[in-house]
Amino acid sequence: MSAVAVQAYTLLDDIECDERIRRAREQLGERLVILGHHYQRDEVFAHADFSGDSLKLSRQAASSKAEYIVFCGVHFMAEVADILSRPDQVSILPDMAAGCSMADMANLQNVERAWRELASVLNPDETITPVTYINSAADLKAFCGEHGGIVCTSTNARHVLDWCFEQREKVLFFPDQHLGRNTGYTMGIPLEQMVVWDFDQPMGGLTEQQIRDARIILWKGFCSVHQMFQPEQIDQFKAEYPDTKVIAHPESPFEVCQKSDYVGSTETIIKTIAEAEPNTRWLVATELNLVNRLHEQFKHEGKNVHFMSPTVCMCSTMFRIDPQHLAWVLENLVEGHIVNQISVPQNVADKARLALDRMLEVSP
Ligand code: 13P
Ligand code: SF4
Repeated sequence: MSAVAVQAYTLLDDIECDERIRRAREQLGERLVILGHHYQRDEVFAHADFSGDSLKLSRQAASSKAEYIVFCGVHFMAEVADILSRPDQVSILPDMAAGCSMADMANLQNVERAWRELASVLNPDETITPVTYINSAADLKAFCGEHGGIVCTSTNARHVLDWCFEQREKVLFFPDQHLGRNTGYTMGIPLEQMVVWDFDQPMGGLTEQQIRDARIILWKGFCSVHQMFQPEQIDQFKAEYPDTKVIAHPESPFEVCQKSDYVGSTETIIKTIAEAEPNTRWLVATELNLVNRLHEQFKHEGKNVHFMSPTVCMCSTMFRIDPQHLAWVLENLVEGHIVNQISVPQNVADKARLALDRMLEVSP
């Protein structure tokens, strides 16, 4: 019998999917591991064997013994799982449309063009370490692997940049300008030494002098979810609740991070609020599903957790993973059919792994 098509699942209700997911998990036992990113909706998150931020989930994928790694997250995460797992393990993304709009803002063609254009000013392979945020396609990680570069996540960006400056004097950081700028600034790099490379313009829209003077060249990419947060939202909220603590994900704009009491990855945000005193109030700049979950989880301690933006804004691609797609991939596995496998070509995976292994080595 061939694989069942996803259309057979789209009209199932969540309760039925929930039961079918549980049954399939029982049948697959230790052959299966489900990894869930913190931004997943509750109905999916509830089925994760392990949850975490990008770094934690990469490590989980690298150490898992399961035959099938079902990644409830976005495309680049399932690619990393495929690269870091054993060749006989299978990485699965329940919905192939679950991409990351920020990751799509850099591609191999425009990064290679930037490298060539930078070569007209200086020798990039001697002077610039390329760093790709883990939110990027596998071929960009391979580019970094090939050019003495590295991958970073929001947890280890500081350690990664320290490592980069031990190798070469400059960094090309893509695709997220905010993570690059926020991290560089905490290392004491002045804003004027962090220039933005506009990939739609020749020479990134920069002069030769700007390139020579820069310490970090920031790709003009951003996350559409975190871009929504504004410093005025903090001011307005604090005018009403002055004792509020503010915490932001480093994909948020510089001005938001500067006004925040804490800046960190999703895992750091959870840990900080979990360890806070009871009866505290929190304004959080990160994805809505996580903020709502934190509120529910800690309200019994009197902690009030609020979403920073007045506009409801969640990661629409993370939201693509729904109970229907999860039930579909799991029931197909029970029947011996692999659907939605993420398989990175070996020549790309080998080079990408170099950059990922460097990252894992320098991570705390
Ligand atoms: P974390 O690694 O902090 O979980 O971030 C992943 C991400 O995509 C945030 O938008
Ligand atoms: Fe990508 Fe932003 Fe969604 Fe994270 S929240 S997966 S960076 S689009």
